[in-house]
Amino acid sequence: MAEPRKVLLSEDEIPSAWFNVMPALPNPPGPYLHPGTREPVTPDLLAPLFPMALIQQEVSTDQWVDIPGPVIDTYRLWRPTPLIRALDLERALGTPARIYYKYEGGSPAGSHKPNTAVAQAYYNAAEGIRRLTTETGAGQWGSALAFASARFGLECRVFMVRTSYDSKPYRRSMMETWGASVVASPSGETGAGRAVLADQPDSPGSLGIAISEAVEAAAGAEDTHYTLGSVLNHVLLHQTVIGLELKEQLAKIGAEPDVLVACVVGGSNFGGFTFPLLADKLAGRSQVRVIAAEPTAAPTLTKGRYDYDLGDQAGMTPLLPMFTLGSDFVPAPIHAGGLRYHGDSPIVSVLARDGHIEAVAYPQSKVFDAAVQFTRTEGILPAPEPAHAIRTVIDEALRCKEEGKAETIVFNLCGHGHFDLKAYEDYLSGTLLDV
Ligand SMILES: Cc1ncc(COP(=O)(O)O)c(C=O)c1O
Repeated sequence: MAEPRKVLLSEDEIPSAWFNVMPALPNPPGPYLHPGTREPVTPDLLAPLFPMALIQQEVSTDQWVDIPGPVIDTYRLWRPTPLIRALDLERALGTPARIYYKYEGGSPAGSHKPNTAVAQAYYNAAEGIRRLTTETGAGQWGSALAFASARFGLECRVFMVRTSYDSKPYRRSMMETWGASVVASPSGETGAGRAVLADQPDSPGSLGIAISEAVEAAAGAEDTHYTLGSVLNHVLLHQTVIGLELKEQLAKIGAEPDVLVACVVGGSNFGGFTFPLLADKLAGRSQVRVIAAEPTAAPTLTKGRYDYDLGDQAGMTPLLPMFTLGSDFVPAPIHAGGLRYHGDSPIVSVLARDGHIEAVAYPQSKVFDAAVQFTRTEGILPAPEPAHAIRTVIDEALRCKEEGKAETIVFNLCGHGHFDLKAYEDYLSGTLLDV
């Protein structure tokens, strides 16, 4: 029989525990620091913003963290996700490489983001919290949290970066349909938003500004917590369901990856997809190359500095050890709204600093060349964020062609682009600009 096009798992093969990469790191990142005192942040300082279960996960050194039953029950709506062989792309490129992708776009919100949104909503509801706040760039994270909040009976307030708020009205409608309320950031609702507007009334916004607003809105209310869709250790931990399933799927077809690729800014899909396999590399059991793809408009890993920096613009968050472009850096309004952030996950940053992973950056025209080629061969229309990974995959597959190597390349297709059609329209009409 021919090799199957899709590698599928059954519902009872959904992982029952998340994989914590922390104990596998040769050089773990330093602690988060208080921005005033520069002393390590203690759990009581984080308690106004996060439930204790998530604070514990943030610093956990346990290898495995059990996934609560109600979270697994919700995962069953779309997990396990398929691993698909990109045969038509391989043929179009004429490459001897074998290309596979893990497709996370089949979740209710259309990306990998619900893997952590569901867990975060569950732990907050279990602790008696009634309302969640958050920021969203592409609208993918806000949608995921709106969906998860609805499932666990929580109110949800989303600060949506101004450029996305204007360019993606249907992402907004989707969040509102789940019952969330959405406001454009910077907004007049918070001190942080008002300060930016006073300086720059037509600010396009950024994730750094929207985070300040969402944190401020949560810190002032006892029944309200803040949620983050990326960057933090517990977020990457929840996303490891992707990499754990991937490992099972590769084992089923006896495949050993030579190259793993994911797009990155906060690092959540990258970390969740790669960590279970990267741990084997760190332990000397594999030689896999692991590549992070980012935009030249926010080249955090390729051009940033490794330092302690704030996670937001107004200084409401702790100082995190990470690659950063500076917390006041406002990236140009590229279409990959989810990649417009100045920092990165502390774990991903330390892996890049120590040379365990590689990073590449692309301008958006090259990214959309790849996205359109993928759509025309494989059929799925990718979100602009994972289209960065597709650019890398195509370049790697062409390298394999030149070198005559049949390498196995696997990437994370972390979301579909059905709400990003303005970007495709600009590309197809020749008006997409490199910024
Ligand atoms: C579809 C999609 N992919 C990727 C990202 C980038 O985030 P992360 O690096 O945490 O995966 C986002 C962020 O909003 C996103 O919406």
